[in-house]
Parts: sequence; C-alpha cells; structure tokens
Amino acid sequence: MNTPHVVVVMGVAGTGKTTIGPLLAQRLGVPYAEGDDFHPEANIAKMTAGTPLTDEDRWPWLDAIGAWAHGRAGLGGVVSSSALKRSYRDRLRSAAPGVVFVHLKGDRELIEDRMSHRQGHFMPTALLDSQFATLQPLQADETGVAVDVSGSPEEITDRAVTALSGLDG
Ligand SMILES: Nc1ncnc2c1ncn2[C@@H]1O[C@H](COP(=O)(O)OP(=O)(O)O)[C@@H](O)[C@H]1O
Ligand SMILES: [Mg+2]
Repeated sequence: MNTPHVVVVMGVAGTGKTTIGPLLAQRLGVPYAEGDDFHPEANIAKMTAGTPLTDEDRWPWLDAIGAWAHGRAGLGGVVSSSALKRSYRDRLRSAAPGVVFVHLKGDRELIEDRMSHRQGHFMPTALLDSQFATLQPLQADETGVAVDVSGSPEEITDRAVTALSGLDG
C-alpha cells in the first residue's frame, strides 16, 4: 500500500478549499485541518481591521500549517491554505517535505458567482482581482495536481481523488 498523502488544498479565495478539503479528507480517511485556523493572533487582529497581510505576516502562519503537515507525515492529512505564491509553497515544503498540492482551479466568473451566494461573506471584486493577480500555478517541479472546480463538491472530490492516485507508484 502507498504511504498516505499529506495534501495541501490550495487556490484563490472562493475556489472551494473549505468545502472540498473535508470531503477529500473523509474520502482518504485522514484528518482535515482548516488553514485559516493557524493564523497567529496578530494576523487575526490585522484581518479583522481590514489590513492586508504582508508576506512577513504570512511566514509564521505558513510555518504553523507546515508543522501540522509535518506531524501527519506517513499518516496522511488534508489542510487548506491558499498557497498562491511559489514562495509560500516553498515555505510549506521546507517544513513538510513530502506534501502534495491539490490546486482547485476555476475561472473568475464561476468563482465570483459562487462567492456572491456565500452567506455573510461578500467578497469585493478587487479582492478577487488581487487573488488572481497573485496566483502562481504549480510549476513542473512541484508535486501536485490541478483539479477543475466545475460541478458539485462530490464530483470535484472524485476528480481530486483520481488525480492524486495518479501521483502514486
Ligand atoms: N462545487 C460547488 N458548487 C457550488 N457551490 C460551491 C462549490 N464549492 C464551493 N461552493 C460554495 O462557494 C463558496 C466558496 O467556497 P469555500 O469552500 O468557502 O472556498 P474557499 O475556502 O476556497 O474560500 C461557498 O459559499 C461554498 O458553499
Ligand atoms: Mg476557506
């Protein structure tokens, strides 16, 4: 049997990380951790005040996610983290060398439409613009898969499971 994957579910805000992550974890029979829960107090204060996080703010957060992922090495786990930049993924990999990424990928129109239906979470157009501008897709030397986010959460989860099984062996 293959070693269980430690998966980071990545992608822009609204792409479905929090929705698909737990479903994927359930399918793989491993625990799920919500990346947003790893922010230090200082980051939460900043975000609550509407102040954008800097990369300096993000390193301790990414290190905390990386520590969780490292703790799941050999056991398997799924954690969400937008991980939009290559440098953020490098940081995660330096803490947890074996992690694999599932990039939930969808076009702007679809994601904007879904966000507009999210209760109590209005996302300004400018924020979505900046998310897409910041996004650096997985590069050839990064272990991971891109998964299309059209369709139901169950279909997307199936797609992710199939794509991940292609990484084995
Ligand atoms: N496959 C899907 N079909 C319809 N709505 C979805 C789907 N995936 C996610 N959503 C909805 O889109 C919104 C954003 O999803 P969410 O999981 O919160 O994204 P993220 O965690 O990446 O920001 C939520 O309202 C969620 O219920
Ligand atoms: Mg989320």
